[in-house]
Amino acid sequence: QELKLSLEQIEKGGYEHFMLKEIFEQPKSVHDTMRGRLLVEEGVIKMAGIWDHIEKFKNANRIIIIACGTSWHAGLIGEYLIEEYARIPVEVEYASEFRYRNPIITDKDVVIAISQSGETADTMAALKLAKEKGAFIYGICNVVDSSIARITDAGSYTHAGPEIGVASTKAFTAQLTILTLIAFKLGKHNGNLGNADFMRLIAELDAIPKRIEDVLSSTHDLVQNIAKDFVGATNFLYLGRGYNYPAALEGALKLKEISYIHAEGYPAAEMKHGPIALIDENMPIVIIAPKKGHYDKIVSNVQEIKARKGKIIAVVNKGDTQVSAMADYVIEIPETAECFSPIVASVPLQLLAYYIAVYRGANVDQPRNLAKSVTVE
Ligand code: AGP
Repeated sequence: QELKLSLEQIEKGGYEHFMLKEIFEQPKSVHDTMRGRLLVEEGVIKMAGIWDHIEKFKNANRIIIIACGTSWHAGLIGEYLIEEYARIPVEVEYASEFRYRNPIITDKDVVIAISQSGETADTMAALKLAKEKGAFIYGICNVVDSSIARITDAGSYTHAGPEIGVASTKAFTAQLTILTLIAFKLGKHNGNLGNADFMRLIAELDAIPKRIEDVLSSTHDLVQNIAKDFVGATNFLYLGRGYNYPAALEGALKLKEISYIHAEGYPAAEMKHGPIALIDENMPIVIIAPKKGHYDKIVSNVQEIKARKGKIIAVVNKGDTQVSAMADYVIEIPETAECFSPIVASVPLQLLAYYIAVYRGANVDQPRNLAKSVTVE
């Protein structure tokens, strides 16, 4: 029989959708993002864009991160990383708000723009504004030679490879990888991250592609089965604390954009300020609860959900008992330093959104009303 493959099928590399292919590419894309930059043996992070302008970063009053959508979620995690390890104040802003609110910007500010496409109109306009006011502007883009990459003073490409699915997956984990490298590099340089901790963290970062690979193989079938039970859901809550609060936002965004199910992400402790009123036996709640990072607090959040009969899908570390005992569904991920947990925790959440959308018959790669690059306001 004649074998006819369309160009698109070839590009999908045997996967049903680009999104699934891109989810599975993450061990490689994260590795590619670190390639030539993370030199574990030498104990060095090489990033010319940072190093050539190290005085700008060293003398910065603050770093302002601007982005939209998933890239903004990466920015929030960047704030946690840079403040924790480099102790430089960070603000994170939606580009669309920043550009219109007459922000205070000076030449002592460093502005980091994060954009997969490098073409997002709001991010571009916000950057131009920051540049006019004299800030040093740094780009974290995936698309080489994109408009944002060209107007920035310096930057780092994520090197995740082309991302075709409208829902960002591998670009997100690559953005987190770059932000981690920047935080560690700045922290090492300004003395806020001691050598022993630096060496321990970079060795762990180096192993993250392997961790992602493990998560993909150990959770793929399980998550596919869990997804079947939620095809008819109309709402979802995603909760996390610390580094995993932005991961909860990102999990919720993935679900809503491709499955059209309403989903909200929240910091778990904010539940009692409103969302708890929504919880009943029809409310699925994804809770990200790794061992490192406010675990005991999360346990009490889970108890509160359980008491109201919410359906709990818990993302926990291997060997977890407390949260697992209360959860309806348990997804295990390997234990990592807290700062790496959003990278590994995001992988099963991407799969969950993907399979729920597939089972609902949605157009996963090209969801309605959305474009890959938002080049208009
Ligand atoms: C992500 O899944 C979305 N499609 C969307 O939020 C996207 O992240 C946003 O439009 C920003 O795009 P950019 O990274 O190309 O600037």
